[in-house]
Amino acid sequence: MTDSRFPSLTVIDHPLVQHKLSLVRDRDTRPIQFRQLLREIGLLMGYELTRDLPLERRPIETPITAMEAPFIAGPVTMVSILRAGLGMAEGLRELLPGAKEGHIGLYRDPETHQPKEYFVKLPAEPGRVLLVDPMLATGGSAVHAVEVLLARGVPAAEIRFLCLIAAPEGVERFAGAHPDVPIITASLDSHLDDKAYIVPGLGDAGDRLYGTSHPEPEVR
Ligand code: PRP
Ligand code: URA
Repeated sequence: MTDSRFPSLTVIDHPLVQHKLSLVRDRDTRPIQFRQLLREIGLLMGYELTRDLPLERRPIETPITAMEAPFIAGPVTMVSILRAGLGMAEGLRELLPGAKEGHIGLYRDPETHQPKEYFVKLPAEPGRVLLVDPMLATGGSAVHAVEVLLARGVPAAEIRFLCLIAAPEGVERFAGAHPDVPIITASLDSHLDDKAYIVPGLGDAGDRLYGTSHPEPEVR
């Protein structure tokens, strides 16, 4: 599904993705189930995210005959924005077990909402880059992560950004900064609240994934 306001945005409205997203949003969903759902959604959304990967033909032998068979051409790298990106990357890894992996560590300053970078590790020749973070809120983190990739020589045309929930404010900022980078999401939510959380959203994705929310969930 596309949105006329945002030409670079695709919203995946597949019923399985929407069902799992509703479970993820539910405040009573605990970290273990949250993690499992992010993995499953990453895998399902990965189907759309990888739709335009280039193919090349290579010779193989089937039990019947020789043929030129299509294979994914060139390297693919999943880049997780830490911490929460790791949850969806688990699902992508199942789809693309041969992919390289990179990490960009960012956290949002609670007062200014500006991203603070604390870690970057990327492969030297990443090829197609699938940048993953479940939340596109103000857009500061995703915009910064794309800038890190561009500074390392990754062409914008090779980057795809996968998120679970996007706020219109974040999509506007990201599309303004990086109009050539497609955004794939499962939901364009309503707006940001006064603490720059997405409404209705799912709360703090990293905290829910790792059980670091306050109060911390009971150990069961
Ligand atoms: C969350 C989320 C994004 C960012 C989105 O990370 O995973 O990276 O906020 O917000 P933005 O669009 O306004 O930049 P957070 O900073 O909470 O770090 P964490 O994943 O380590 O919890
Ligand atoms: N980061 C999150 O984890 N959730 C939001 O709603 C906004 C930023």
